Amino acid sequence: MANIFKLNWPTFTNEEHRAIIQCYYDNLNHVEYLNVIPNTDGSLTHEKLNLNTRLNGFHHLINWPNQERFWQNLLKNYNLNEENAILFTIQKMVHVIPPHSDIGRLWSAYYLLQGQAQTFFYDIDPALFVREKSYHDDWDKLVLSEKVTLDLHTWYLFNNKSIHAVINPHADRMSLSVNLSNFFNTFDEAIENIYNSGLIFKDY
Ligand SMILES: [Fe+2]
Repeated sequence: MANIFKLNWPTFTNEEHRAIIQCYYDNLNHVEYLNVIPNTDGSLTHEKLNLNTRLNGFHHLINWPNQERFWQNLLKNYNLNEENAILFTIQKMVHVIPPHSDIGRLWSAYYLLQGQAQTFFYDIDPALFVREKSYHDDWDKLVLSEKVTLDLHTWYLFNNKSIHAVINPHADRMSLSVNLSNFFNTFDEAIENIYNSGLIFKDY
């Protein structure tokens, strides 16, 4: 089953890309770091990052002061569904993110701002699947199902529940993410209903 689909949502300008990346660095003290070392129960830990931006892994700006206003101002030309502006988050990935199922989100819209990387999706025996778990030590149980190189400045619907890894050997990869978990019960339902939903951009 495919875990990623291109959306027809709008591409931002380079100036807007720069403003989003700047927003991330202006709010570094609110960035959360996703610890990729599993807990004893196999889950992952979300913890506040202590400004060490060289740390490998997944960094996520989810909540910060005036975030709603930031998106409403920046995206005022895109007929944004303003109610959902709070859902935009900014994430940064450094080097390799081992296979995992995401914490706190099932499916999202994804937009690569800078950098290049391959996303690998894996299948596992359904009896062994646990949501929000790191599969760091389970490579032998995983079967590679899909290898995707994402286009820059292009929106995708992304299955965050599925087991995925990011191989990112060279540059820091930054992206936008919009958590869509609350709008759809399954990824198939998201695929079927996202088009012309007006959920995030009223014209799409
Ligand atoms: Fe992830």
